[in-house]
Amino acid sequence: MLYPLPAVLVSVADRDGKANLFTVAWTGTVCSDPPMVSISVRPERYSYHMIEETGEFVINLTTESLAHATDYCGVRSGRDIDKWEKMKLTQVQGQYVQVPMVAESPVNLECRVTQKLELGTHHMFLAKVLAVHVEERYLDESGRFHLAQAKPLVYSHGRYFTTGRELGTFGFSVKKRENKTKVRAGTAASGAERRKKNKGRPGRSK
Ligand SMILES: Cc1cc2nc3c(=O)[nH]c(=O)nc-3n(C[C@H](O)[C@H](O)[C@H](O)COP(=O)(O)O)c2cc1C
Repeated sequence: MLYPLPAVLVSVADRDGKANLFTVAWTGTVCSDPPMVSISVRPERYSYHMIEETGEFVINLTTESLAHATDYCGVRSGRDIDKWEKMKLTQVQGQYVQVPMVAESPVNLECRVTQKLELGTHHMFLAKVLAVHVEERYLDESGRFHLAQAKPLVYSHGRYFTTGRELGTFGFSVKKRENKTKVRAGTAASGAERRKKNKGRPGRSK
């Protein structure tokens, strides 16, 4: 019941270079410096032995337009089908790992496994993030990345959603309100007065 989570496409390859990809929701950021992530994988997954063989994987973030492929890659196995071909996903070579990245994904994290924890149903792979690739069209002139524009996909209790309305930025709860116009005492209408005044007028669109 710890939801929502990102549903990511994890790409993998075996020691002969045969690539596969599968969907993972049990994933997370676990350390800032060194940058580290985790994925938890059931040993019976076809992809599992590939991660074991190479110690590498790529986390590809998903979006609204990748929703179909994300679900498909989580219900079909690479044992039976080439999911890249079936979902028309493009492989691009990473910088550090031999595992291909998904070109259609807005963010790719190249990962190298440092530790495996055999927890129970799932084995958790802890991995260092060696490189992060972002799609340039979501970068503004100042180099700031706007992931929201890519409509990231989230998974919550068996359902997929896109992220909704922005509610604030990091630390907004303690920030002083900027651009707050000073008004002389007695000139500002109270909330109740304003509401009364505006009654019947069309409201601002939200
Ligand atoms: C939304 C979603 C999330 C999933 N999360 C995980 C996960 O965190 N760990 C896991 O082992 N399998 C997870 N799965 C299941 C695998 O993706 C699925 O068994 C897949 O077919 C394995 O592919 P493979 O046999 O090609 O390795 C998830 C599936 C879906 C649809």
